[in-house]
Amino acid sequence: AVRAFATSTIQQKEIKNVTVIGAGLMGAGIAQVAAQAQLKVTLVDTTEKALENGQNIIGTSIKRVAKKLNPDDQAKQQEYIDNALNNISTTVDSKAAAKDADLIVEAIVENIKVKQQLFKDLDAAAPEHTIFASNTSSLSVTEIASATSEARQKQFAGLHFFNPVPAMKLVEIVRTDKLQEQVFEDLAQMSKKIGKSPVSCKDTPGFIVNRLLVPYMLEAFRILDRGEASPQDVDTAMKLGAGMPMGPIELADFVGLDTMKFIADGWRETGGIEPSLVTPVKVLDELVAEGRLGRKSGKGFYDYPKK
Ligand code: 3HC
Repeated sequence: AVRAFATSTIQQKEIKNVTVIGAGLMGAGIAQVAAQAQLKVTLVDTTEKALENGQNIIGTSIKRVAKKLNPDDQAKQQEYIDNALNNISTTVDSKAAAKDADLIVEAIVENIKVKQQLFKDLDAAAPEHTIFASNTSSLSVTEIASATSEARQKQFAGLHFFNPVPAMKLVEIVRTDKLQEQVFEDLAQMSKKIGKSPVSCKDTPGFIVNRLLVPYMLEAFRILDRGEASPQDVDTAMKLGAGMPMGPIELADFVGLDTMKFIADGWRETGGIEPSLVTPVKVLDELVAEGRLGRKSGKGFYDYPKK
């Protein structure tokens, strides 16, 4: 349905078709929550193998969601799962997937050049009304958007989800100076529709959550570097003393130590944040150099034996 606004000439289309580019942990999660809310989702990645991996991530997570909604009714659980999964199609052709999209959410590798090239191609392939969004957590949305036309930049925002996407209720909607208010409103409405609470923030390093979380986690590593407390004691302290669901050390293993280092190193280079907040931390650099990247590699600050 096309909604017309008396006060403006912009006619915005309700977001119904969402294309998600990148079938990793974040992309799969975003596709899942959109599909659960009855949006039509096209999940895109460069290989069939990557798409299969994304579908497996969704399959495992959606079982949990279905079970929680219908704890004692297996038939209803299956119905919920089938219903949501029916809303998802997959393809390796990103340009074709752009053609019917009301919204394109990008969740690919955190590399500015790769993201810019992708959005440049999508800009040529997508209809005029399509809103573009990046799930970047550490790059400038303005800089990514600059690869697209002036018109598209008005419809280009950050849409930052949190891991695990199906469980975390927040989405940060990142405004560039060019973003149109109506587009922000459409994204906020869509965020609510998929069960998230949106917050608005400017396009600055880390937006809100990571701007606070990353320096906090780096300072936790420095406590270890200085030998002031054990990882277990740091985590216990923040869980029981500050009500965090995970302590900073286990959260770092959960996020990925390579990701933590990538964000800190990137901010040190690009600036825009107090330098002392992101000075290098020995223990982090050492663990990453050893390939101890956290949960995903089986070892980080802690060991994660395969079950
Ligand atoms: N899929 C579906 N549901 C999930 C899920 C998943 N992958 N993971 C957890 N859940 C749901 C569970 O079903 C459960 O729901 P309920 O409370 O309604 O019954 C709820 O989430 C809690 O899960 P559990 O009981 O299994 O386990 P915990 O209570 O230990 O919670 C956690 C797990 C939600 C991961 C919690 O530990 C947590 O909130 N940790 C902090 C996570 C965090 O800070 N994430 C942000 C990281 S930073 C980031 O993503 C930004 C990036 O840019 C770097």
